[in-house]
Amino acid sequence: MEQNHRQEEQSHLFAGFSTAFKSFATEAIHVGQEPEQWKSMAVVPPISLSTTFKQSAPGNHAGFEYSRSGNPTRNCLEKAVAALDGAKYCLALASGLAATVTITHMLKAGDGIVCMDDVYGGTNRYFQRIATELGLEVSFADCTKPEKLKAALKANTKLVWIETPTNPTMKVVDIKACSELVHEHSKDIVVVVDNTFMSAYFQRPLALGADICMYSATKYMNGHSDVVMGLVSLNRDDLYERLKFLQNALGGVPSPFDCFLCNRGLKTLHLRMERHFQNAMAAAKFLEADPRVERVIFPGLPSHPQHDVMKRQCTGCPGMITFYIKGKLEHATAFLSNLKMFAVAESLGGYESLAEHPAIMTHASVPEKERSVLGISDTLIRLSVGLENEADIIEDLEQALHAAHPKMK
Ligand SMILES: Cc1ncc(COP(=O)(O)O)c(C=O)c1O
Repeated sequence: MEQNHRQEEQSHLFAGFSTAFKSFATEAIHVGQEPEQWKSMAVVPPISLSTTFKQSAPGNHAGFEYSRSGNPTRNCLEKAVAALDGAKYCLALASGLAATVTITHMLKAGDGIVCMDDVYGGTNRYFQRIATELGLEVSFADCTKPEKLKAALKANTKLVWIETPTNPTMKVVDIKACSELVHEHSKDIVVVVDNTFMSAYFQRPLALGADICMYSATKYMNGHSDVVMGLVSLNRDDLYERLKFLQNALGGVPSPFDCFLCNRGLKTLHLRMERHFQNAMAAAKFLEADPRVERVIFPGLPSHPQHDVMKRQCTGCPGMITFYIKGKLEHATAFLSNLKMFAVAESLGGYESLAEHPAIMTHASVPEKERSVLGISDTLIRLSVGLENEADIIEDLEQALHAAHPKMK
């Protein structure tokens, strides 16, 4: 009975979304994990800590030389992620930002980057304050409006950086439309999609025409808030050769222990994402119906401006909700300070529920003027809804809203 109810709820939740990727769970559990690759026949890939590997004669090795250029545990992770992204290749980096930096190093001084106007604060900071110092030309465009992206493309544009949904205002970009438009302009422009918010389970940018899919694996891909890592998936041989070279030459690689943990996190990615979606949908509906809330931005709700794009290009929604609380900064602060189960903390995508104030926390590095254009105001709150019981999540939100607005409702 209970089981049937759950199944019904689930099928309702996913109604209208793109169908789930075939054999996703099987690939997450088995690809790159073959026991036959180890002498011990270990079912769980061992953590290979050795920094160096014996050569039977100079230059004669069994596939590994030095752990920065290649590591057996990292290899298992990279193979699994490539499969989950429907990609030929994957490279693991030391953080999401290390992945961004490594990708950007494919460019040279004078080249141009067009970046989605609302992106993770650290991406914005890197492009505006570091990449420009190195002679790259950076401009920002609202890629939810393809004509704005088209207008931003120039003869020197070599990289288009899309994040969808964006952090924190949850704008959804049509990846297929943007990739086609960019590639029509020039086949040489590399389209990158930051897939951090979606994870491989809910969105495959490569199948939609992007050249590179990147992640802060610190978030959903690892999913346990105990690893900082970046991942890059791709199909093009030329780009892979270049990025593989840069992975080694720049050296921003993750530790074998972190690779082990992230690889382990992937085994439950499908289960986690479905539950994140279920809990977030319940929380979003609760917030949207509440008089103490000004506006909820959750791509799973029909009220989201790009809800249809989301349904077309994704197989579900992650646990990210942004909302404007009624009132001023003091109300947002009161709400956040009174949460009991949600932790007020940066980051997202772990099993635990988190809440934060983007203007003061994650997006403080975005210039104030730009923040106000983007709608990152004093009353904006971002939630990363975790895997706890739905009723406990709602109860915590309710009591914190009451603390912020004791006289309303
Ligand atoms: C969407 C997005 N991309 C990239 C990053 C950077 O990743 P990392 O913190 O792993 O360097 C973050 C971090 O919050 C993020 O949210």
